[in-house]
Order: sequence, then C-alpha cells, then structure tokens
Amino acid sequence: MTRLLDRGNASLIKAAVSAAGLHSDSRYLDAGFGGGLSIRLALRSVSNTPLYGIDFSPDVVREGHRSFKTQVAHGEVALLKADVAELPFRDGMFDAVTTINTVYFWPEPAAAFRELARVTAPGGRLVVGYTGAQKMAGHPELSTGFRHVDPPEVEAWAEAAGFSCATEALDGRVTTGDFVTVATRAIGSR
Ligand SMILES: C[S@@+](CC[C@H](N)C(=O)[O-])C[C@H]1O[C@@H](n2cnc3c(N)ncnc32)[C@H](O)[C@@H]1O
Repeated sequence: MTRLLDRGNASLIKAAVSAAGLHSDSRYLDAGFGGGLSIRLALRSVSNTPLYGIDFSPDVVREGHRSFKTQVAHGEVALLKADVAELPFRDGMFDAVTTINTVYFWPEPAAAFRELARVTAPGGRLVVGYTGAQKMAGHPELSTGFRHVDPPEVEAWAEAAGFSCATEALDGRVTTGDFVTVATRAIGSR
C-alpha cells in the first residue's frame, strides 16, 4: 500500500508541476519540497534561472542539499529553510509556484495563501496539489495531524488572497481522489 501511495504521490506531483506551465525562463518556487521530485521535474523545463525550494524542516533541507549538490553548486537550485507563512522573497518574485501535499499541515492556511500571493507575480500561477478528504478518510494512518481539505476550501483560501481558481480532479488508476487547483494572480494586482 505504501508503494501505491508513493506512486499516487508521484502522479500528483507530476500533474501539479505540469500544470505550472514551466518554460526555460520560469521563475519557479516549490513550497514544501519534501523529497524534491518537483524540483527534479522542474529542472527538465527551466534552464535560464535558478529554481527555488523552501521547506521548514531542517532535515528536509539538509537532505535536499545532498540530493541536489551539483545543481546547488552551479547556482541552478536554491533550497532554503523557511515557513510558507513567512517567505524570504521579494514581492512578485515568482511566476510559477507549486505547493503539493502541504496544505494539510498549515496552521493558518489563509495566511499562507496570502504570503504565496505576495511572492507570485501579477499574471503568475500558484498550483496546489492535494488529496481530497474522501480519499484521506480511507487511509486512517494519514488522519492524525492532517487537515482534511477539498477544492471549495482550497479555492476559497486562494480567492481570498487574490487568485482566480480552476480545479482539476485527477482520475486515474492511482490518483483518483487527488486534486490540482490552479490559482492565477490577476494582472494589475499588487
Ligand atoms: C507530505 S510532505 C510533501 C512533500 C512534497 N511536496 C511531496 O508532495 O511529496 C509535506 C512537506 O511540507 C513541509 N511543510 C509542512 N508545513 C510547512 C510550512 N508551514 N512551511 C514550509 N514547509 C512546510 C514538510 O516539512 C514536508 O516536507
């Protein structure tokens, strides 16, 4: 079952990174990069600017520096220890931001979405990948410490922060019950 969950996770991460619409010049951030698959996938598309990942776990960041030693040394990847609610980046620094399997853990999701909006450029895109409440409920081992979320809540947090949203329900063999919400920041917003 863990293997099935891992495969489901990889599919969700791939779907979210793909929805970010990355290209060679994208200024990309993944918030809560965990094992770093998102960064690995983004490296296939982005070549002219450094990719950023943040995570508030020092162990995750240490492991990330080990896994991406060469890319960090070449300035292609920057991995920082930071909380999504207080990002060490200037306003509008990124045009593509992902955060995957993370919303469940944020104590104040509305504040986190406001902070993600702050660092997303007008016209830029925040992609949120997550497992919905019904699928979560089917995995009791994933219930303690996990907030159960569904698209209406995620969209409400994002819209309150100034994004317009569209959500895709993933419906494949291992990803049924997962969602990708694409939140776009209006051009002309500050
Ligand atoms: C379940 S893992 C997901 C990792 C990866 N995105 C994935 O989908 O496999 C959640 C990650 O979010 C990080 N995280 C949780 N709350 C956070 C916060 N407030 N700020 C930054 N990172 C956070 C955790 O340390 C962990 O690495």
